[in-house]
Amino acid sequence: MSDSLSESGFDLDHVDRLLTTTRAVRKRLDFERHVSDELIFECIDLAEQAPTGGNDASRRWLVIRDQDTKNELGRLYAEVGTLFINARGRLDGTGHPKERVVSSSAFLVENFSRSPVLVMCAIWGIHDDSGRPGLFDSAIPSAWSFNLALRSRGLGTAYATMLNNKSEDVAELLGIPSGVTTLVCFPVAYTIGQDFSPAPRRPAFEITYFDQWGFTRSQGSQDGSARIEDGPGVVVEIDTDARPKAIWDVISDINMPAQFSEELVKAEWTSDGDPQVGSTFRGSNSISGVREWETDCIVTEWKDRAAFEWRITDAEKPGAIWRFDLAEQGGGSRLRFSMTIGKDNNGTAPRALKDPTQESRVLHERRLVHKANMQRVVDGVKGLVDR
Ligand SMILES: Cc1cc2nc3c(=O)[nH]c(=O)nc-3n(C[C@H](O)[C@H](O)[C@H](O)COP(=O)(O)O)c2cc1C
Repeated sequence: MSDSLSESGFDLDHVDRLLTTTRAVRKRLDFERHVSDELIFECIDLAEQAPTGGNDASRRWLVIRDQDTKNELGRLYAEVGTLFINARGRLDGTGHPKERVVSSSAFLVENFSRSPVLVMCAIWGIHDDSGRPGLFDSAIPSAWSFNLALRSRGLGTAYATMLNNKSEDVAELLGIPSGVTTLVCFPVAYTIGQDFSPAPRRPAFEITYFDQWGFTRSQGSQDGSARIEDGPGVVVEIDTDARPKAIWDVISDINMPAQFSEELVKAEWTSDGDPQVGSTFRGSNSISGVREWETDCIVTEWKDRAAFEWRITDAEKPGAIWRFDLAEQGGGSRLRFSMTIGKDNNGTAPRALKDPTQESRVLHERRLVHKANMQRVVDGVKGLVDR
């Protein structure tokens, strides 16, 4: 018996490999190998085990094998897909983070109709904002299960949705009645090789919030309540129209974000030269000209247009870790401002630890103050760059 059998009897090595390596496959689709109807039925049967709103059996699947019909769908797909072909022209050889996915997507645009079989997932209903379940919400879980079922049997696909921009033409071509929504058209084939890897994704602790939007913990708590030893933190994020460069120019000038914060109103470099890892600055807060506190900060990450992290008082035992992260998002950028409260060198930890029954409450209240303050900072930065 494998060590990795779960409480429910599943071999987690297998299950986790399926869940972490079911990739969007395009260049490694084997266009030459036949895929049987039996296999498609089998995968649809598995996919149909997915939940549906109101247990309403409204999903329908459309399997396209006729080459003329595939060619016409390929032509429609390419009309929308020119954006990938154009983007590939711009990105090829640049090392841009999207270069590979764009090149792969463009390949699918050019080869869509070569798939041995195209499988559409559709549902009776249209999105009418009625709030009723059973529309997209019921089709998507089964569409993903279909992907997993394919992968488990040596096949692959990509979750191709671009034909949704051509739904009237598609409906006419395939005789789909009004009142039916098509969501995705899978190009299905055996994959060339089986060695697919997990994708880099943000770790759960960075994107999982507890009890309040933006409240993080850097590790799981023993009993579920917030504890100083679990690395309680706060995240605020904002989307801007500006490119990362414009935001970096603001956040890398330490006094610019400070002006929006009620806690930190002044910051000045205390080390010489251009900022880099190891540089230091001093932050202070003075109300009505009276200095309330000042604190020394050490830069622990400095990545042009991407990340700026600093630690309070002691890099090894920080009072807090503060961080800006920048990423391209759509045509603009997403700015993420986060902090983690340290175990030492701050006023919060002793206050929280004084009475264990109050620890969670103290951390909650302190983080509400941080969150409001950090929100002012990102709103202020957005105001500067989105003018
Ligand atoms: C809602 C949705 C729409 C997508 N639409 C397309 C599409 O039209 N064409 C395509 O080639 N890939 C499409 N994809 C696949 C994504 O590009 C792919 O999942 C992403 O690049 C990450 O790659 P990975 O799944 O291998 O990790 C879509 C995925 C989702 C979830």
